[in-house]
Amino acid sequence: MTVSVEVQSLSKLIPQKTLLRDVNFGVEESEVFVIIGPNGAGKTTLIRLLDLLDKPSKGRIKFANTEIKDYSPENLVKWRRKFGMVFQRTVLFNAKVYDNVAYGLKIRGTDDETIEKKVKTVLKLVRLSGFEQRHVHTLSGGEAQRVALAQALVIEPELLLLDEPTANLDPANAMLIEEVILNIARERKATVIMTTHNMFQAKRLADKVALLLDGELIETDTPEIFFNQPKDPRTLAFIEGKIFF
Ligand SMILES: Nc1ncnc2c1ncn2[C@@H]1O[C@H](COP(=O)(O)OP(=O)(O)O)[C@@H](O)[C@H]1O
Ligand SMILES: [Mg+2]
Repeated sequence: MTVSVEVQSLSKLIPQKTLLRDVNFGVEESEVFVIIGPNGAGKTTLIRLLDLLDKPSKGRIKFANTEIKDYSPENLVKWRRKFGMVFQRTVLFNAKVYDNVAYGLKIRGTDDETIEKKVKTVLKLVRLSGFEQRHVHTLSGGEAQRVALAQALVIEPELLLLDEPTANLDPANAMLIEEVILNIARERKATVIMTTHNMFQAKRLADKVALLLDGELIETDTPEIFFNQPKDPRTLAFIEGKIFF
């Protein structure tokens, strides 16, 4: 199962500032969509809107061709149960790895035996087999982020949202997380939307890349066109390293 995502004229304004201006894009079912941009571009703002943690000031978000109009807790829960979200800074409960990963299944009323099986499978996927009884405060940053990924994946999300999931990690952990993301997209056919400031990561993972600068989506293309024949001079400047972050 998977969902398509469409964003139309999406804007987010706060009293002093426009964080996102008139953003448009579409992500097809099972596509990996990578939003790339320097610090402060609005990546977190955008991904929080997609995760329905914030409300847009203007514009529309559609999942599976259904516009999100109703931001009541009941409707948000209905949608958010289909989503897995990984934040840039790992967010875990102060508890054992097992309980952290099992949480999403527990609140869905899954039986203990199934939970045990699924937790085991997903921990294997993120190469943390045997870590079930470890308390999360004993984990390295990379291990903790892999637990966060397992927590997002255990519910078999239709849409996986990741906000700079490897930004604070060493290369080995970053590669591992990239492998898992690709695996989920290919094997489980989840739709994936992730942000990064790392263009090599975008090249490795993306079916489509979008450049976000200063709250505006500059260019959305396949990696081939985006990196080899960009249409916008700002995309060229970014990939040539002339826009710093
Ligand atoms: N609630 C807020 N109040 C004021 N400024 C904000 C708020 N949220 C984000 N910003 C600012 O908006 C810009 C975009 O932020 P963010 O979405 O976090 O960018 P990114 O994730 O790409 O680094 C930044 O300059 C940030 O400081
Ligand atoms: Mg951010």
